[in-house]
Amino acid sequence: MRIIGIESTAHTLGIGIFDSKKGVLSNEIARYQPTGGGILPRDAADSHSRNFPGLLESSLYKAGTRLSDIDAVAVAQGPGIGAPLSFGVSMARFLSSYLDVPIVGVNHPYAHVKIAEYFGHAKRPIVIYVSGGNTQILFENSEGFYDVLGETLDMGLGNLCDVFLREAGEKEAHGSKLNQMAKGGKYVRMPYVVKGLNISYSGLFTHAKRMLGKYPLNDIAYSLMETSFAMTVEIAERAFHMKDAKCFLACGGVAQDPRLKEMLSLVAKENNAQWYVAPNEYNGDNGAMIAYAGYLMQEKYGFFDMKDILPYPDYRIDRMKALLEKAGKI
Ligand code: FE2
Repeated sequence: MRIIGIESTAHTLGIGIFDSKKGVLSNEIARYQPTGGGILPRDAADSHSRNFPGLLESSLYKAGTRLSDIDAVAVAQGPGIGAPLSFGVSMARFLSSYLDVPIVGVNHPYAHVKIAEYFGHAKRPIVIYVSGGNTQILFENSEGFYDVLGETLDMGLGNLCDVFLREAGEKEAHGSKLNQMAKGGKYVRMPYVVKGLNISYSGLFTHAKRMLGKYPLNDIAYSLMETSFAMTVEIAERAFHMKDAKCFLACGGVAQDPRLKEMLSLVAKENNAQWYVAPNEYNGDNGAMIAYAGYLMQEKYGFFDMKDILPYPDYRIDRMKALLEKAGKI
């Protein structure tokens, strides 16, 4: 089966193609760049609509396939930002009707986890899902769904880094910038907020913001990064022991960060455990992960009725079972 996946939940439009015999054939992305501040939903949707035709063409070209050879369509249904998310869902519905092929809806975090498991061959890991909007510790239950064991009580880890960079006057607000800024920094005290298996970053953000102008920027950046990553890895370690797990897996955009990977490797070593992370290309939002997760979904639950292919902006991973029940799939 050759399945095309469409990702448009936030600033990235991704179109990827997965073949059940050959694996990932293509994974093309186009990113919306905000002119200042954060994502403007309508602008993100406009950007995706401008990029869609060219990206579809290049994804097919890289995969060495034609549109007429596509057997099925997969699409991210959420969570995400209304306007860009709806655009991707509409395009997927159109492609499915136009090509007369079946369609399957995918939960975006589930796709992040599954593509990372695919590359790492990880079995029931403690999942550290870290992105701009999401920070969760996940574990697969006996029914094959993911339970959220712990999570941020306010902002996502990626968002914490981005908003701090903007407060510091940086135009390029993304994690790798924070990493560069932190080079040579010294640690200064920061609030460390772990509540059982949950964490809170907002106090850390406020504290870092108040330090601007009073401490060297690289000291603040370094301390913010060390503290927020340590809090995140700590709850993963707590979950690891609670579930008597055997390995860790990091996924999502922030899983690309070298310092987070280093911390995770140290914690895994201390616990005699393996740890996994997908290649960077597959940790940021992308279409290949949606295509692959869609392939797995249809194997387990079959394809969806078109009436059930809707955008769900607040579609948490722990709502998958409820949605599948509602659609009559289980
Ligand atoms: Fe994501």
